Amino acid sequence: MSEMILGIETSCDETAAAVVAHGDDVRSSIVSSQIDLHAQFGGVVPEIASRSHVELITPVVADALVEAGIEGRDVAAVAATHGPGLVGALLVGVSAAKALALVWDVPFVGVNHLEAHLYAALLEEPELELPLVFLLVSGGHTMLVVMEGHGRYRVLGSTVDDAAGEAFDKVARHLGLGYPGGPVIDRLAQAGDPSAIAFPRAMPGDNLDFSFSGLKTAVVNHVRKHPDVSVEDVAASFQEAVVDVLVAKARRAADEIDAKGMALGGGVAANSRLRERFLAAATEDGRPGFVPSRAMCTDNAAMVASCAWWRLQADGPSPLDLGADPGLRLG
Ligand code: KG4
Ligand code: ZN
Repeated sequence: MSEMILGIETSCDETAAAVVAHGDDVRSSIVSSQIDLHAQFGGVVPEIASRSHVELITPVVADALVEAGIEGRDVAAVAATHGPGLVGALLVGVSAAKALALVWDVPFVGVNHLEAHLYAALLEEPELELPLVFLLVSGGHTMLVVMEGHGRYRVLGSTVDDAAGEAFDKVARHLGLGYPGGPVIDRLAQAGDPSAIAFPRAMPGDNLDFSFSGLKTAVVNHVRKHPDVSVEDVAASFQEAVVDVLVAKARRAADEIDAKGMALGGGVAANSRLRERFLAAATEDGRPGFVPSRAMCTDNAAMVASCAWWRLQADGPSPLDLGADPGLRLG
C-alpha cells in the first residue's frame, strides 16, 4: 500500500493541499492565502472565502500532486479538515476530498482542525515525548491541551472571551494597522519598548483559562487618552502582556501534569516574542520545548495529512456522510 496521504485545508481563508508520507515526511505543501481579498474588509468575509476556495481548490490540489511527483492513484487516502471553521469554507474542502476519494477508490478521513494544529509539532519533531502540553493559539482558539497519546487529549484551559489572535487582530484594527493584525504588531513591536505601558495581565481565577477582552479594551482606552503615543510602544507593550499570560499559564499547566515537554501551535505561535519567551521558559524549567516553523504554525494542509495518518490507523476511514461541523471541539 502506498503510504501517502493527500490533505486538504479550507476551514478559514487559506486554501491548502499537501502530500505527506507515513505521517511525518512532507512531500509537498501548497498554501494559497486569500488575505488580500479580505484585507479591505478588515477581516474574513465568509461568502468571499467559500467562493475563493471553490476557485482555488482544484489548482492547489493539482500543484500538491505535481510537486510531490505523484498521481492520484498513488494516494492512500484523502483527508480534509471538517471543523471547526466557517461552514461554507469547510464544505468546499470536505466535498473535494470525498469526490477524490471516491474517484481514486481510497478512504476519506475527516480531520479536526485543532488536532491538526497539534500535529504540526509532532510532524516536525516526531521524537517529542508524551504527555505533552500544547499551547494552541490561533485566530479562533486559545487553549492549553495535554496530549496523552495519539487521539487522546484533555483541554486544561481555554479563553473565556477573545482568542489571542482575535485580540491581536482587534487591537491592530483599532490602531489602523490592517488585517491580519498579528504579523504587523509583531513587526512594529520589535522597534518598541515592551515596558512602556503597563497593560493588565488577566489571570481569571486560579485556573488555566484565559481572558483577553479586558486587555484589548485597556489598549483602546490608552490610545484614546494618549493619541500621540508611539504605536511601536503600544504594540510591544500589548504583545508583552499577551505573551506574559500565555507563557505563565503554559508553564503552570506543564508543572501540574508533570509534562515531558511543551509545544506551541496555531497562527499566533508564529509570533517572534512568544516563540522566544516560550522556549526560554521551557529551558528554565528543564523541560524540552518545541516551536514549529512559522509556516507550520499558520494554517496548512501538511498538518491535516499528518493528523489523518494517525486517525486512519486508530479509527479507520470516516463515513462519506460525515458533514462539515463548524463548532467541532477537541477531546
Ligand atoms: O491558525 P491560524 O492561521 O488560523 C486560525 O485557525 O485561526 O491563525 C490566524 C491568527 C490571526 O489572528 C493572526 O493575526 C495570528 O494568527 N498571527 C499572529 C502572527 N501571525 C499570525 N499573531 C501574532 N504574531 C504573529 N506573527
Ligand atoms: Zn488554524
